[in-house]
Amino acid sequence: MPAIEEQDPALLPQKITHICCIGAGYVGGPTCTVLAQQCPDIVVTIVDVNPVRIAAWNSEDLTQLPVFEPGLAAIVGECRGRNLFFTTDIDKAIDEAQIVFVSVNTPTKTSGIGSGFAADLRYVEASTRRIASVAQTPKIIVEKSTVPCRTAASMRAILEANSKPGTPFQILSNPEFLSEGTAVQDLLHPDRVLIGSLDTAQGRRAAELLSEVYERWVPKERVLHTGLWSSELTKLAANALLAQRISSINAISAICEATGANVYEVADACGVDRRIGPHFLRASVGFGGSCFQKDILNLVYLSGSLGLPEVAEYWRQVIVMNEFSKARFAKKVVQTLFNTVTAKRLALLGFAFKKDTGDTRESPAITLCKHFRQEGAHIAIYDPKVKREQIFLDLTEPGVTDDRKAVEEAVTVCPSVLDACHDAEAVVIATDWDEFSAIDWHKVFNIMRKPAVVFDGRRVVNPAKLREIGFRVHAVGVGPELQDNVWV
Ligand code: NAD
Ligand code: UGA
Repeated sequence: MPAIEEQDPALLPQKITHICCIGAGYVGGPTCTVLAQQCPDIVVTIVDVNPVRIAAWNSEDLTQLPVFEPGLAAIVGECRGRNLFFTTDIDKAIDEAQIVFVSVNTPTKTSGIGSGFAADLRYVEASTRRIASVAQTPKIIVEKSTVPCRTAASMRAILEANSKPGTPFQILSNPEFLSEGTAVQDLLHPDRVLIGSLDTAQGRRAAELLSEVYERWVPKERVLHTGLWSSELTKLAANALLAQRISSINAISAICEATGANVYEVADACGVDRRIGPHFLRASVGFGGSCFQKDILNLVYLSGSLGLPEVAEYWRQVIVMNEFSKARFAKKVVQTLFNTVTAKRLALLGFAFKKDTGDTRESPAITLCKHFRQEGAHIAIYDPKVKREQIFLDLTEPGVTDDRKAVEEAVTVCPSVLDACHDAEAVVIATDWDEFSAIDWHKVFNIMRKPAVVFDGRRVVNPAKLREIGFRVHAVGVGPELQDNVWV
């Protein structure tokens, strides 16, 4: 098996007719569904080791797909069975494909070297070994998962050592930048598609072939080509920069609350400066989601292992500030409710880490529940998309509490906002669901205990209107005497 640099570009696939995506999760599912829609002449097969997930993707009832994203179900309905397939027959899909996306999870390691920081690459490695053992024809292997810089080198070593003679391959990095809740629009109209390749004739040819697939719907100038390591690092850097902005505005938000300044005014006034820009300056209870924390920890580990402790410490502070923001918000709730929430009912509105997704990974709501539970509160949770069982799974995670019975006694999952708020001392808004902006607060006030307090961690309510009804309101990032002015 010749090394990658010696392979003849003519041995790469000449035409792309079949694409396989390994990993049918939040990235693999939506990404390759949109690809199938935009490329009806390419057969796209999304595979997974998890038969339950695949069965859910194949549900007749499109409301039961395993990933909720606005607009996604309609595209699955349009393409599934035409040129889009979901299956556990991984080997067949790899065998038929010219391009194989690796979209498997890369969580933070929980044991061994780098525990708590480094990315766990076992699923990427398992996928790579499987491709090597199955492939009989040339393949372009695409890292879609978020991975540490130079992961492609490890994949290449595995492929070189294990693939069959006459099955040349190229590895590309093509990180995904979609945000959950807006995945379909992000995929249809991406700011950029990034393709990293080796700077060799074969590498460039492979990148061209992948680029041609995207160029069916993405303007050519938005497809950026870089080296492999730059592409891998760009993904970590982009997430770190976005999360850093949120931690920065949340740090300012703490100063606002202490001084009487208004974080929304500060953010708007900073954001109009074109060098700063308005995005990702929404103060909040803290950021959540499966990736920001994981990818920053990954960057911290990478920096540390490169002998750059100051760089590692710099990025670690983004996480420290996020933890502080969540804890500060929880403390505010307890302090405002006369320094005790023991045996009090708190209505928690929203459990997903942001609106328009059912994903709860690293949701700030989980941390809030942990704090409230420690104080002995009873928590009544309502979320329009997160299922009851998921909430209990999250609240019995190691590090939260592993006592399911105790959690079931302390937590009620409710079917509506009004059910959650019934007899509650306070309402805590943890997710920015649109329906929370349309709550009938008169009704809520009438069924709550008094004084009725609303803690808005997401800038969802109009404090002035709520105060007219009789509520006390605390909105994150706004000093007490300015609370009435925050809503726009
Ligand atoms: P996920 O956990 O939702 O999905 C990963 C899937 O891969 C799972 O269904 C799992 O069963 C499957 N899998 C694992 N090993 C496998 C194997 N050997 N063979 C077949 N299937 C296997 O994860 P996700 O949220 O889709 O994230 C995937 C990657 O994309 C991660 O690296 C993540 O950092 C990155 N990413 C995620 C997002 C996001 O919004 N969630 C956005 C951009 C990038
Ligand atoms: C983020 C990035 O935005 C994507 O580009 C990236 O592909 C993805 O991570 C990933 O790698 O997984 P996502 O986590 O889905 O996307 O959602 P975001 O919109 O970035 O929100 C993340 C968290 O930050 C949410 O809890 C959100 O409520 C919070 N947030 C966001 C704020 O608190 N303030 C803001 O101004 C923006």
